[in-house]
Amino acid sequence: MIRTLEDARKYEKEHTDALKKGRPDFHFSPYIGWMNDPNGFSYYKGQYHLFYQYYPYGLYWDSMHWGHAVSKDLLHWEYLPAALAPENEYDSFGIFSGSAIEMEDGRQLIMYTGVTKENDVDTQTQCMAVGDGLNYQKYEANPVLDGKNLLEGMDTANFRDPKIFKGEDGDFYCVTVAKKADGNGAMLMYHSADGFKWEFETVLLENKGEMGKMWECPDYLELDGKKLVIVSPQDMVAEGYKYHNGNGTVCFIGSYDKTSKKFIPESDASIDYGIDYYAPQTLKAPDGRTIMIGWMQNWDTNLLTDRGDRNWFGQMSLPREIWLQNNKLYQKPVTEIEQFRKNKITYVDENFSGVKTLQGIEGRCVDMEVTLHTKENDSFSKFTINLAQDDNHKVVLSYNPKDHLLSFDRRYSGTRRLACNQCECEVSDNSELKLRIIMDKYSVEVFVNDGEQVMTNTFYTALSAKGISFEVDGKVVVGITKYDLGSASMRCH
Ligand code: FRU
Repeated sequence: MIRTLEDARKYEKEHTDALKKGRPDFHFSPYIGWMNDPNGFSYYKGQYHLFYQYYPYGLYWDSMHWGHAVSKDLLHWEYLPAALAPENEYDSFGIFSGSAIEMEDGRQLIMYTGVTKENDVDTQTQCMAVGDGLNYQKYEANPVLDGKNLLEGMDTANFRDPKIFKGEDGDFYCVTVAKKADGNGAMLMYHSADGFKWEFETVLLENKGEMGKMWECPDYLELDGKKLVIVSPQDMVAEGYKYHNGNGTVCFIGSYDKTSKKFIPESDASIDYGIDYYAPQTLKAPDGRTIMIGWMQNWDTNLLTDRGDRNWFGQMSLPREIWLQNNKLYQKPVTEIEQFRKNKITYVDENFSGVKTLQGIEGRCVDMEVTLHTKENDSFSKFTINLAQDDNHKVVLSYNPKDHLLSFDRRYSGTRRLACNQCECEVSDNSELKLRIIMDKYSVEVFVNDGEQVMTNTFYTALSAKGISFEVDGKVVVGITKYDLGSASMRCH
């Protein structure tokens, strides 16, 4: 059954009280129904635009639409009506991920993957739509890139996720991903003078089997004098603590070689060491910051995540400022988050031993910095922070100084599923360990050592579990600064 854009917008209108259902306070969730990847994350006509992979009619992935919201500060989002629906013959199975950019004439140009399905096999092509920030017209000559624009052996069932940008020459370029004959992903670049007629430019980077299999959601950008390739590989095999299994997010740092038209990677690393982070997109803010946002979920675990009585599924991570430092990707929550801080509580260098709770340290919407002076008083082998705690539940963050390992465990969050509930991150061997912990009801994002690493996880423990406690099996000196975070109260257009 084809459901049109008009159907989706009507359905949204019929659910005027959709946002009342227990939303995170300042993380973005869909207006109603299912959400996956961020799409078209961009700045246009004085506002940030966030589109998203969207199925309004249920809490599961189905024929993809694009949902839409705008914000002036990346945190107070105003929901706009759904932007695109799978209603044309070239995208009847779904409007998959893509991106947006402003054109010279002031209109907003969207590039997305149109998917059709026949005999259970996808055909994926790239399509355009043009709009004013609210309503979009699909281009009459869609698709603009199809199987004819792929290289020998590449698979039309896996050709998707265009990220459009302007080159130094002022022309349009995009990067997409495609599956090669060997099953591994490649990142292709295309060029267009007008944004509608596209031609193949180069294979910017390809997976020779060392980074999962097929790749998804590419991004290509310049940051602090380097070129960055960001990509989300499927089917990763765990590699020490560097990469976890399954769907991952990778950042390659390197340069572009003009002669060979190749990206030359110098290093690669996980963007996030948690379970729930995927398919990030970046934008350049008018004040020069580069901001990245990702889907705060994981394909491998989403079906095992309890839907409760919520009318929404899927959250975006906090938008994060990113930069390079010591040739590494650093991340921090956008500074705009500080407007939500209230009720500051500080504990300066407290001696911890055994189990400890502290006056005023509790809650499910908090911004808390915990500093462990690990070397000064190095007489412990495990330090634990229990979050979202009551008599029967806890979400556990622990640190083992011998191996410099930070671990996360949500087995006792109340989940009834045997799914991946634990993850680890090997941190730098410094004299102190700094953790900035941002919790928003159903998620925790841990920024390690001023943003050198991040670990993002969701959990759906009942909101009454709001205890925070600490535990150490020896002695350690700890500093804590904690704020409660207020609500962004998202609203409708
Ligand atoms: C990544 C992804 C994309 C695709 C979209 C479909 O999460 O699989 O590659 O465009 O989701 O919803």
